[in-house]
Amino acid sequence: MNKHVAARPRDGFTTGLGVIFATLGSAIGLGNIWKFPSLTGLNGGAAFLILYLACTLLVGLPVMISELSLGRRARANAVTTFEKLAPRQPWWLIGAAGALAAFLILAFYTEVAAWVIAYIFKAAFGQLSSVDPQVTAAAFSGLISSPVQSLLWQWLVLAMIAAIIIAGVSKGIERMTKRLVPALFVLLLIVIVRSLTLPGASEGLVFLFRPDFSKVTWATVLVAMGLSFFKLSVGMGTMITYGSYFRADQNIPGTAARVMLGDVLVSILAGIAIFPAVFAFGFEPDAGPSLLFITIPAVFNAMPLGRVFMVLFFLLAAFAATGAMLSLLEVPVAYLTERLNWSRVKATVTTTLILAVFGAGAALSGSILANLKPFGMTLFDLYDFSSSNILLPLGGLFICLFVGWRWGLGEVRRVLSNDGRLRNERIVQLFFGVVKFLTPILVFIVLLNGLGVIKL
Ligand code: PHE
Repeated sequence: MNKHVAARPRDGFTTGLGVIFATLGSAIGLGNIWKFPSLTGLNGGAAFLILYLACTLLVGLPVMISELSLGRRARANAVTTFEKLAPRQPWWLIGAAGALAAFLILAFYTEVAAWVIAYIFKAAFGQLSSVDPQVTAAAFSGLISSPVQSLLWQWLVLAMIAAIIIAGVSKGIERMTKRLVPALFVLLLIVIVRSLTLPGASEGLVFLFRPDFSKVTWATVLVAMGLSFFKLSVGMGTMITYGSYFRADQNIPGTAARVMLGDVLVSILAGIAIFPAVFAFGFEPDAGPSLLFITIPAVFNAMPLGRVFMVLFFLLAAFAATGAMLSLLEVPVAYLTERLNWSRVKATVTTTLILAVFGAGAALSGSILANLKPFGMTLFDLYDFSSSNILLPLGGLFICLFVGWRWGLGEVRRVLSNDGRLRNERIVQLFFGVVKFLTPILVFIVLLNGLGVIKL
């Protein structure tokens, strides 16, 4: 039986470009559209952007390189990776905590994706046509306070990503993201041209690119560091799982750097698509998360042909969300197929059904479960908070500690240089120094703050 398992060839990404699109597809997500612009709006525009860049370089990127390396070395799911690299030691718990984090993120993320997809249809059928934010706010609360709508749209999202995951790594994830990511760029550029050619658009650009450091506090720095985890999909095994599908000749630091830059580019482009239009029509830029579902529809309605652009905008948001959700769902599916030897169909269907139960907690947070508040938060907020603020930094911390202190420079050099075929000793040394000392210290501070041990 075991021989049979070992003999079955492992699925993986087939081309260098496929690797980039799949990994970029995981990083780009609702984070770029739902979290990034509103955080930039609240925290001093370009000042936050600069801060975020520094945090990604020192925190997100090193953890991403670490995860990809571990996965490719072990060629296994997130749990088995640690069992292989450190047998009979408890490091596998990192992978297990990661699978839990993937679950929690998916539980609320699929609901935000559900709203996005609902908005594509609502925009197309003219149900969101008002320039008054109070009216669009009522439309949004109508959606989230309807248990039936919230659940049905979420189930649609779950069914969609399950179908792609069942198709496999190369035939499902790779093939899909190779189409979605370029399409997303094209749609983004179309919306940008519209936004920038509105009268008064320049004010939005000034806001986005002129730094206001008076709004930056230590708490902002921590927010930026935490965001770099969520943005680059690290700290929970996604990148370990994807790394295990990387080709042997893939340059890991080069790929990670490209993905990071591509992801930042999309965040900035999303800002350029949103803020000029927001300012052109005199809306408030710092509206927090409601920016996406309340302000933006009103903004689009204020412009000629706004309905068309609104549909395109939510379509691109849905494309972004899909690549991210695929990578999240792949974490438990890879584990179940490899460890329990389940078929891909069985693993995906089981995971999706369990997710539908967890996810209902998030979907119903705006309606029948609105008053269920363990730890003073709705389930939706609790899933988001516990994964983003606790599990991801915790996973990231231990991944750095594993790579820096347990694995060691020799192994790191081997995997990052593709067994000596790449001449990148300087990058290896720099990476190793950062991941051994600097990143863990920074992540530890983020974690203490997330747990409320220190208050900055
Ligand atoms: N990076 C994704 C985004 O920005 C979210 C994500 C987090 C995906 C963790 C996978 C793992 O939306």
